[in-house]
Amino acid sequence: MPENNSLTTPILNTLNEYLLKKPVRMHVPFHSGIPNNNVLPEELYKLDISEVSGYDIEGEDNPIYQSEKITANFFGVEHSFYLTGGASVGLLAALIALKKHGEKVLLLRNVHKSIINGVILAELEPVWVEVDFLSEWGIFSKVNLESLKESIKNNSNISGCVIVSPTYEGVISNVCEISDICHENNIPLIVDEAHGAHLFFLNEKNLKSAIQSKADIVIQSWHKSLGALTQSGVLHLTQNQFFTYNDIKRSLDLVSSTSPSFLLLLSLELTRKHLVQTQGTYFNGLYFNSVHCKNELNKIDGIECFQNEDPFKIYLKSKSFSGIDFAYSLYKDYSIEIESANNIGLLMLTGVSFNEEVMKNVIGAIKEISVSRDMPRHVSVDNLAEPTTNKFKKTPREAFFSGFKNKSVDYEYEVNAPCPPGYVLKIPGTKK
Ligand SMILES: Cc1ncc(COP(=O)(O)O)c(C=O)c1O
Repeated sequence: MPENNSLTTPILNTLNEYLLKKPVRMHVPFHSGIPNNNVLPEELYKLDISEVSGYDIEGEDNPIYQSEKITANFFGVEHSFYLTGGASVGLLAALIALKKHGEKVLLLRNVHKSIINGVILAELEPVWVEVDFLSEWGIFSKVNLESLKESIKNNSNISGCVIVSPTYEGVISNVCEISDICHENNIPLIVDEAHGAHLFFLNEKNLKSAIQSKADIVIQSWHKSLGALTQSGVLHLTQNQFFTYNDIKRSLDLVSSTSPSFLLLLSLELTRKHLVQTQGTYFNGLYFNSVHCKNELNKIDGIECFQNEDPFKIYLKSKSFSGIDFAYSLYKDYSIEIESANNIGLLMLTGVSFNEEVMKNVIGAIKEISVSRDMPRHVSVDNLAEPTTNKFKKTPREAFFSGFKNKSVDYEYEVNAPCPPGYVLKIPGTKK
C-alpha cells in the first residue's frame, strides 16, 4: 500500500529509477527518448515512456494505482482514477457504470456532449430534466430542484442522475441538496465538475466541491481549473455505496487507451503534490483578485458582469457591442485572448497568469472599447434562443447507429453540440 504521505510521487520515483539506470531502449515508444524535431524539448521525449519496468507491476504495488490512492487519501475519497483522455473519458466511463443500476438516466438539459456520447455507448434511455435558460445572457441557469423531483416521481428504473456544476460560465448548483434528493430515492449522483476542481480549495463557506457535497462520482478536468497539462483529468469515486473500484476500473478500460500518456500521468501526480504543498492558498489569493476584477468591470458604464458563483469565470456583456465583436477587438487591439464569446457576452478565465498587472490591462482595455465609437459591428447583439428539447422517437443509440444506413428519417441521428459550450442542440433519437 502507498505510504500515507500526500507528497509521495510513485510515478515520478519509478520514472527516475528507470532514467538513472540509462537502459538500452528496446521498447515502444519508437522515439526512444530522441526528438525528431527542434521544437519540442528533448526532456519531454525522455519523460514520454510507456509501460517499462516498474510500471508493469499488477495490483496494489503498481505506481499508478499507488499514486491514485495517495490522491484519493488527500481528497478523502474512495479512489481517484487518473484520466489521460480528459474529463470526457471519465464521463463516458461513469455512464457505462450506471448501467449497473437501471436503464434510464436523468440528464440535466445542459449536460456536456460527452455525456450524450456515454448514453449512446451504454445504451441508456435519457430522461431530460429541464434547466432554466437565460436568453438575455444566452446561458443555462442552476439545476431546478422541483423539476428534478418531478422527473424522479414520474420515472422508474432510474440508474442515476448526471448534472454539470459549475457550468462552463461558472453557474454553481446546490449539489448538497441535489445529492440528498437523489439519495433519498436511492439514485446515484454523478457530477461533471470539469470546470470546478479548484472549488475544493476555496475557503468560501458557500462554495463547495461536489466531493464535499456527497456526490457519488465527481469528474474533474485538471487542465481546466488546477494547472495540469491539457487532457488530464480525475474521476473521484467518493464512496462505494453504489459503485465499487472494479465497476469504474472496467468501465474506464472500455474507453481508454492501453498506452496512457506518462507526461499526463506525471502532470496529474505533480499537480496533486503542488496542491498538497500549497494547500490551495494560491486559489484564495486568486479568488480576491477575481472578485475585485468583477466589481471593477461592473463599474464601467455599459458593462455588466453575470452574477455567477465561480469566482474564476468572468462572463460579461456590453450594451453596445456583441461579445464576438468585443472579443475581436480585445485580441486585435490589445492582444488579450479570451475564453469564448457569443452574440451577447464574452467569457474570461482568471488563470495562473492573472495578477494585478493583467487585471489592470484587462479592465483598461474593456473600458476603452466600451466607449469606442468607431469599432466595427459585425455581429448584432441578440438574445440567444433556448435550445429545443424535442421528444425522443428512438433511443440515442438506435438513432446514432441507424445514421450509418438510412438518412431519410424523421429523427436526429447526429450529436450536434458545438464546443464550447458543449451542451447539445440536437441529440440522436429526438424528433426533427
Ligand atoms: C461541462 C464540461 N464537461 C466536460 C468537458 C470535457 O472535458 P475535457 O476537455 O477534459 O475532456 C467539458 C469540456 O469543455 C465541459 O465544458
